[in-house]
Amino acid sequence: PINKRIRDLMRRMSLGEKIGQMVQIDRKVATPEVMRDYKIGSILSGGGSVPHLQATPQEWLNMVNGFQNGSLSTRLGIPMIYGIDAVHGHNNVYKATIFPHNIGLGATRDPELVKRIGSATAREVRATGINYVFAPCIAVCRDPRWGRCFESYSEDPDIVKEMTEIINGLQGEIPKDSRKGVPYVGGKDKVVACAKHFVGDGGTTRGINENNTVIDKHGLLSIHMPGYNAAIIKGVGTVMVSYSSWNGVKMHANHDLVTNFLKGALRFRGFVISDWQAIDRMTYPVHANYTYSVLTGVQAGLDMIMVPYNYTEFIDTLTGLVKNKFIPMSRIDDAVRRILRVKFQLGLFENPLSDESFIDQLGHQAHRDLAREAVRKSLVLLKNGEIADEPMLPLPKKSAKILVAGSHADDLGNQCGGWTINWQGGSGNNLTSGTTILRGIAEAVDPSTEIVYEENPEFDYVKSNNFSYGIVVVGEPPYAETNGDNLNLTIPLQGQYTLYNVCANINCVVVLISGRPLVIMPHLEQVDALVAAWLPGTEGQGVADVLFGDYGFSGKLPRTWFKTAEQLPMNVGDLNYDPLYPFGYGLTTQPLNATS
Ligand code: IFM
Repeated sequence: PINKRIRDLMRRMSLGEKIGQMVQIDRKVATPEVMRDYKIGSILSGGGSVPHLQATPQEWLNMVNGFQNGSLSTRLGIPMIYGIDAVHGHNNVYKATIFPHNIGLGATRDPELVKRIGSATAREVRATGINYVFAPCIAVCRDPRWGRCFESYSEDPDIVKEMTEIINGLQGEIPKDSRKGVPYVGGKDKVVACAKHFVGDGGTTRGINENNTVIDKHGLLSIHMPGYNAAIIKGVGTVMVSYSSWNGVKMHANHDLVTNFLKGALRFRGFVISDWQAIDRMTYPVHANYTYSVLTGVQAGLDMIMVPYNYTEFIDTLTGLVKNKFIPMSRIDDAVRRILRVKFQLGLFENPLSDESFIDQLGHQAHRDLAREAVRKSLVLLKNGEIADEPMLPLPKKSAKILVAGSHADDLGNQCGGWTINWQGGSGNNLTSGTTILRGIAEAVDPSTEIVYEENPEFDYVKSNNFSYGIVVVGEPPYAETNGDNLNLTIPLQGQYTLYNVCANINCVVVLISGRPLVIMPHLEQVDALVAAWLPGTEGQGVADVLFGDYGFSGKLPRTWFKTAEQLPMNVGDLNYDPLYPFGYGLTTQPLNATS
């Protein structure tokens, strides 16, 4: 019946109405009138372009419904779809639950957990009236110098493939008898997902973002492609194309991969969306030959274009290309059919306006408990030295006086990383709500234990106090996309000083907060225990749960931990594989009180 409804609708659509469906604009330029007058098919809050920092779910709902009413007031009343980067929970809304970034989820090796995270994320996104997420990122990051390494579950294609299970949580589980490739969304508490960035985004040379991936066809298919096949089998609604190139050809211009392979061989029937301003970036300088870029991109197989601002120019250009027969009507019809198919599947025509039924889901305690569980399972214990014949971890809950130090101990922004409220994330505790690691520690220890918190204690200070031991929480500052590209991968200097000042004087545990392995070898000797905590999100108690032995360590490295950055790229299975800690490494501890 959906196909019939699509046919009926398309028969009545003008060229302008069809092209409008292919346009996605940013919230900042959207108004109900723009939606109506240009028959725009979609809006996004790009890079978390949020209305204002502490906008309530009700304010979000009202805003989204306002835009939707604009779309519904058009001649055919085709509803728009609203997309957002909910990449570790609904990371765009104050008070939402923020889950560990994908690298941490890769360490859990637990697809069922990831599926539950998908369900919780869908409900929190629905709380704000939004029905489409630009997730999951199924990049197979082959070089941690890449600024998006933390968005990748693993360097290993099999793990990435398994983690597409999140789609079953976001969209719901596709019925067994469905035809391969047909998008599926299973109810009002579900959202449309987006597998991104097609394809080879994690394979660029030296991990430079948006760059060139040099690899033969076999490598592309065996390393970077398996996740897409898995996502399509699960009925993923949309696929976002990568800014990167494959062997010198921009993916946004790659007809062979986008049309012949993705839509043909893999039988993907949802819609293909461009990345942000990617059409403009197809030439250098950007926007140099816009008509050429629109022609090449749409002909390559892009269905929806994340324009996101200059929509009149895009609409005029595409209209001209169709009217002058550079782009056949069949290509436009293919794009629109796919977009309408997703909208029908989503139930948008029946329920275009969002109601308040999910508002209480935002930051729901059950989701916070789930995030805390995910944090516990994501921690990878890299070193656990012995102190007087006893392993350093787990720590005793009862001590006289302990020191907690480091830039990441009491800072939710640092703990959550990039893509948290702001595109680049941010530091401090006013960014989002949750529990810092310091607070988690305070909740975990016996009330008789005195906790001293010094962000950057001096050497002599640590030496002259009688601390039983220290917990140092340091790591990378937040970043996203190209801003995270980094050739050195060292711990920021202040963090190194803090680590030294504490660990040179007293027994210490270092909890590293980072979106990837960092240079740690020079510090190892000083450190008694070392925990990779990745970017854990808002639920800092999860770290304390494991440090103090309520639960055991179980996480396994989702990536190879290098000795020196000069070794990069280095992935499991490579020739001359010589890691500090190999892929899959992770020590375990037993829970003290056997609560799990
Ligand atoms: O979804 C993202 C993508 O991952 C990177 N560029 C911007 C898009 C929309 O914010």
